[in-house]
Amino acid sequence: MSDALKRAAAEQAAAEVTSGMKLGIGTGSTAEHFVRVLGARVREGLDVVGVPTSEKTRIQAEAEGIPLSTLEQLKHLDLTIDGADEIGPGLALVKGGGGALLREKIVAAASDTMIVIADTSKVVSMLGAFPLPIEVVPFGLGATQTAVEKLLSGLGLGGELVLRGGPDHPFVTDGGHYILDAHLSRIPEPAVLGERLVQIPGVVEHGLFINLANKAYVARANGVETLTAGV
Ligand code: A5P
Repeated sequence: MSDALKRAAAEQAAAEVTSGMKLGIGTGSTAEHFVRVLGARVREGLDVVGVPTSEKTRIQAEAEGIPLSTLEQLKHLDLTIDGADEIGPGLALVKGGGGALLREKIVAAASDTMIVIADTSKVVSMLGAFPLPIEVVPFGLGATQTAVEKLLSGLGLGGELVLRGGPDHPFVTDGGHYILDAHLSRIPEPAVLGERLVQIPGVVEHGLFINLANKAYVARANGVETLTAGV
């Protein structure tokens, strides 16, 4: 995705931000554009407060001069703007390519509205081509991985589970957890898979975002298309 398309989607979403809003601020290269646009508006006088979805976003937002807070203080947000790795039917999403899925989901769930910003390459007719991130506790990793594999094969979802970063240098999330990337190719029933995954002890969260996004701004070469959850 070109930077120009990422920025176009980010600008469209930023135009929905008004003074007084409490914002969830996403993570990833598209969200980085949003943070830049938002920072410029804050310096022009826009009065907002944001909750970042990762340490990376927190550092960028602080550098942009965006006032920040936490969900301990705010408890509830008006709007979250974030990227996605895949956008499927009903605006079901795969997220977590950047490893921030847990905070992203907590922040999105605490928001009245979630707007996704992306380019057209993220829109799919079925989720699953992008490996599904599954955040797990380091303790008991082998047992958790086995339980996830058993669940996937029971659901007829073949595919490899890969520890992000590898066994010698596993990627560690902001919450101190590991990520198993599930190479499934296709996820015909995302809601079923999501519900079953969180029942496994050791699984903290997964990158399936169901019924969280209300709208997506999808940038194409000829303009930004609006997708809504009902379409
Ligand atoms: C971060 O963990 C992810 O959920 C990102 O929102 C997602 O990977 C999209 O990132 P890009 O905007 O860089 O494609």
